[in-house]
Amino acid sequence: MNAPTGTSDALVFFGITGDLAYKKIFPALHAMARRGTLVMPVVGVASSELTVDGLIARARASIAEHGGGVDEAAFGRLTALLRYVQGDYRDGGTFTRLREALGACRRPLHYLAIPPSLFQTVVEGLGGADCTAGARVVLEKPFGRDLVSARSLNATLHQRFPESAIFRIDHYLGKEAVQNILYFRFANAFLEPIWNRQYVESVQITMAEKFGVAGRGRFYEEAGVIRDVIQNHLLQVIGFLAMEPPSASYAEAIRDEQAKVLRCIKPLSPDALILGQFAGYRDEAGVASDSAVPTFAAVELRVESWRWAGVPFYIRAGKSLATTTTEVLVELNPPPQVVFNEAAPAMGNYVRFRLGPDVVIALGASAKRAGEGMAGQPTELSVVRQRTSDEMDAYERLLGDAMQGDATLFAREDAVEAAWAIVDPLLHVEREPLPYAVGSWGPAEADRLTARLGGWYAPQ
Ligand code: BG6
Repeated sequence: MNAPTGTSDALVFFGITGDLAYKKIFPALHAMARRGTLVMPVVGVASSELTVDGLIARARASIAEHGGGVDEAAFGRLTALLRYVQGDYRDGGTFTRLREALGACRRPLHYLAIPPSLFQTVVEGLGGADCTAGARVVLEKPFGRDLVSARSLNATLHQRFPESAIFRIDHYLGKEAVQNILYFRFANAFLEPIWNRQYVESVQITMAEKFGVAGRGRFYEEAGVIRDVIQNHLLQVIGFLAMEPPSASYAEAIRDEQAKVLRCIKPLSPDALILGQFAGYRDEAGVASDSAVPTFAAVELRVESWRWAGVPFYIRAGKSLATTTTEVLVELNPPPQVVFNEAAPAMGNYVRFRLGPDVVIALGASAKRAGEGMAGQPTELSVVRQRTSDEMDAYERLLGDAMQGDATLFAREDAVEAAWAIVDPLLHVEREPLPYAVGSWGPAEADRLTARLGGWYAPQ
């Protein structure tokens, strides 16, 4: 199997009538058409009986609802490129028709937005119809359900695709704010001397969502919070926070450093894990009335490297919490002595990255309060960036990168497996999650983890 070269010359989207296409992919393709970067045929594949006109109507509704409104000129360019292949994935004829729809295209990018149980069938179908040579493949998380299934999924893909042709999407890596962690760390010199165990006291990451499972009860019952966002999004964020400076001299440097961080994290202990479930979760459609699936988790981990030994990293993530935001707080050690005769401030210096919904990078410090006496007040030096109207959404960026063959912002096989190895012991915990009220910060027991820091930092 040779690594594909050049830009992909067609996009084949399996599951074009599904939720992901509706919420993310049509808006991303529309944005690309508007920017002039979508010039290849887009072949939708699904089992639904649908005409091309039906698909176009769905694309229009999707872009109106999730893409900020339809730009008719761009929409016209997109629909001119749209084709539809209907068929059962178990039927070889579906793939023969796909090959015909691809015409002279020889370097398709296959996007598999389908249940993982169908991966093997589709990969074999593609191979049998001469659709894999020169092709790339994009997959959505979850990449397996645990370490064993992730390995078997990787083995399935490798039957037909070399690793360099496989693009595993973790949309967090496509976010401006997440890339800014890397940029801010390595485009500035002032952070490096303090970005280590000598100066950093702790790292906290909170991924809070005000909404619940939003109609995805059935999916969530299979996933739970650890599989849904911790194994992937939040561990990738830790990778960016904790990695060694990547060399600029070769393409895989960032992914090498990312994987190295994940390999330095020992499998997590259920002793440092708090699980919660929001009140009312069991009444959601698709959720079992006695479900023990956690919608909240808080956990402590350690990056066992020369740089980070001894520094606690705390993660918490949950649905139906007080607010929607994802924030990283890197707290520094306090000054060695109290020079001014005042009570030590509750929080020392820190670096704060807000990853969503808006982008903030802030340095927390104490400054003198005006007036007599040497008394201080907490202050922040911050940069707040609002989204600009032409800013690329994560999916637009990642689709474009995959078409170009740039895998930097995609999860590599070894990193995915290392991340599963980290959370694997937590997946088998048979414990009733603690109940918590909608709109709270999760079960109060989670405060136990961070008690010695004075509790969790609560993002506004
Ligand atoms: C998805 C999870 O991967 O990420 C969702 O399945 C979660 O449960 C979502 O809500 C969060 O993404 P974002 O970009 O809105 O922070």
